[in-house]
Amino acid sequence: MQVVYFVNSGIEANELAMLMACLYSGSLDMISLRNAYHGGSSNTIGLTALNTWKYPIPQIFGSDANSYAKDVQDHIDYGTSGKVAGFISETIQGVGGAVELAPGYLKLVYDIVCKAGGVCIADEVQTGFGRTGSHYWGFETQDVIPDIVTMAKIQFNTLGGNPVCSAGGLAVLRVIDKEKRQVHCADVGSHLLGRIRDLQERYESNYP
Ligand SMILES: Cc1ncc(COP(=O)(O)O)c(C=O)c1O
Repeated sequence: MQVVYFVNSGIEANELAMLMACLYSGSLDMISLRNAYHGGSSNTIGLTALNTWKYPIPQIFGSDANSYAKDVQDHIDYGTSGKVAGFISETIQGVGGAVELAPGYLKLVYDIVCKAGGVCIADEVQTGFGRTGSHYWGFETQDVIPDIVTMAKIQFNTLGGNPVCSAGGLAVLRVIDKEKRQVHCADVGSHLLGRIRDLQERYESNYP
């Protein structure tokens, strides 16, 4: 990461990321995903595609990265001038129900968006700081490097970059390392998944 900009919250980080994408690209169109959540301000709610806060069951994104990526290409070809400001997505959808993206999806889409002049933004508000257990950042699970990474809370909030809260944020980063929180997430997460998979095998699903 070459430049860090401290803002108040995840919403403000996403607002700023969009503003920078528009300034950089000279375009206004932002692409976001179905079932996404990026915040509740007027612009970020425009990126959010959830009719309720959460669906009652986790949605399955599926594994066909090529056809999902083609959707983005079609949207650029038929829904925009051919140039876009950018693409924003969570690297695992959080509020939408812990939905993982298809393997390889972001690599394909980042390539398409880059060719259309856009900036690729990863919203790591729920997935960053080792929470996936296997990686420190969610985007690493997709083997991509975003142009902009937005992050915020759950563990800390920088409140506009003021020195006190920045010091608090730094302290939290040290604790994440010192207490090996990423390893803890990997241990607890894989235990939980294992137990849930046991239940899945034991009980029939009522959902198609
Ligand atoms: C993926 C994601 N992006 C952005 C936000 C907004 O963050 P904040 O509430 O810190 O403004 C949230 C909040 O839950 C979120 O889950």
